[in-house]
Amino acid sequence: MRRTFRMPPKNVLRTMADHLRKYETLFTLTPQRMRMIVEAFTESLDVGLAKPDQIVPMIPTFVFGWPSGQETGDYLALDLGGTNLRVCLVTLQGNGKFELTQTKYRLAEEQKQDDGQKLFDFCAECLKTFVESNVGEGPGMLKEGQVLPLGFTFSYPCTQERIDHGELIRWTKGFGAPNTEGRDVAAMFKESLAKHNLPVQLTALINDTTGTLIASHYVNPRTKIAVIFGTGCNAAYMEHVKDIPKIANLGVPPDADMAINCEWGAFDSFEHEHLPRTKYDIIVDEASNKPGEQAFEKLISGRYLGEILRLVLCELIDEGVLFLGQNTYKLEKPYCFDTAFLSLMESDPTDELLMIIGIFTHFFAIETTLAERQFFRALAKLIGRRAARLSSCGIAAIVKKMGYLEEGCAVGADGSLYNKYPGFADRVHEGLQDIFGDKGRNIVTYHAEDGSGVGSAIIAAMTKIRKDAGLCLHV
Ligand code: BGC
Repeated sequence: MRRTFRMPPKNVLRTMADHLRKYETLFTLTPQRMRMIVEAFTESLDVGLAKPDQIVPMIPTFVFGWPSGQETGDYLALDLGGTNLRVCLVTLQGNGKFELTQTKYRLAEEQKQDDGQKLFDFCAECLKTFVESNVGEGPGMLKEGQVLPLGFTFSYPCTQERIDHGELIRWTKGFGAPNTEGRDVAAMFKESLAKHNLPVQLTALINDTTGTLIASHYVNPRTKIAVIFGTGCNAAYMEHVKDIPKIANLGVPPDADMAINCEWGAFDSFEHEHLPRTKYDIIVDEASNKPGEQAFEKLISGRYLGEILRLVLCELIDEGVLFLGQNTYKLEKPYCFDTAFLSLMESDPTDELLMIIGIFTHFFAIETTLAERQFFRALAKLIGRRAARLSSCGIAAIVKKMGYLEEGCAVGADGSLYNKYPGFADRVHEGLQDIFGDKGRNIVTYHAEDGSGVGSAIIAAMTKIRKDAGLCLHV
């Protein structure tokens, strides 16, 4: 239990302003610093393409080239994300059009730590329930006896040897299910499917970013890069096979293109040489289930931003600056401060900051002064803005590497942070201009198509077309 009985500082207003200045220095990224990060980032991308098992693994996905937009048919998609499990039936209608029916299932925290095979059994059970309740006549329904191709969106870093294979390198986003790392999750899932005797065929294992890349290009062919800023963060783009030295021995035609799942959340992991980490970031990292790993993601993604702010608040409580004489034990629980609170605090439209009053009284039983609330809002802004500016460094690294700056490109973006955090996209764009000057305007992010559902279906369709045409799937 945390109680403080020190005397309140004489001029609270001034104290809060002083503190804010300190955090401004800690959390602000100058354009110069951003350019240095981009430099190091670009190098890591190259190293990841050159050699296997690098920090940024740059995973070849065996998704060959862009969709034609003419892919058609019914496909199932299963999406194991950071928070939910989603099952979709996607009907691709050609000309970039599609229909989608879906059901979401909530994943319990315990399931993320329970045995891996059990997690896949649960996925198969949900799929079975979905299939059974969607069999019937009419559009959006599955026909009795129909065997459907299934795209499995598994958004964790997996090394792939072919499209329906993926060895889990490591769990991210707080998952820790034992007996899964180092194993082929596609094979594990097939085992669960067999137990339930399901009329489906696992055609492709994909990452959410790869799905987003393909789905976004299906409807907007100017798209060259896809990014996810949600519970985790990552990017995918289309690479020339001749520029992926580590797969030179596979015999894929060098003039082919292949999507790369960057897994950029791992940038600067273990070495911590390039990213400006504050002491709060270091605590988040060291207290996590994967210390040292996902260094970039831990500064950016929705899983961590609330926790970073909470740690600053706890420090100020300890120093006797905040919530004098109040019982603050509710704020002491790790991860109790949701990143959604930062969004709400930043978008509070009232002079009195009533939304912030609500958050602190309702969730933490704490009274706040106006000066404190203004400080919290400013702090949220610093943390949210840093996340967006670091995100633009990642995008800039791919743009630079691929030479997309002059002609410009569209970047399909998805995830709760991108979609719901006020001003996130604007801050990413502002960051791109700080890095590239006026030309940064040529790079435009936009809300992507549903990659994990539609993208997964399109990739399953593309794979089926290749298979039917006798083209290589894994060479
Ligand atoms: C995972 C990626 C995923 C990203 C966004 C990261 O934690 O490692 O595979 O694309 O989250 O969901």
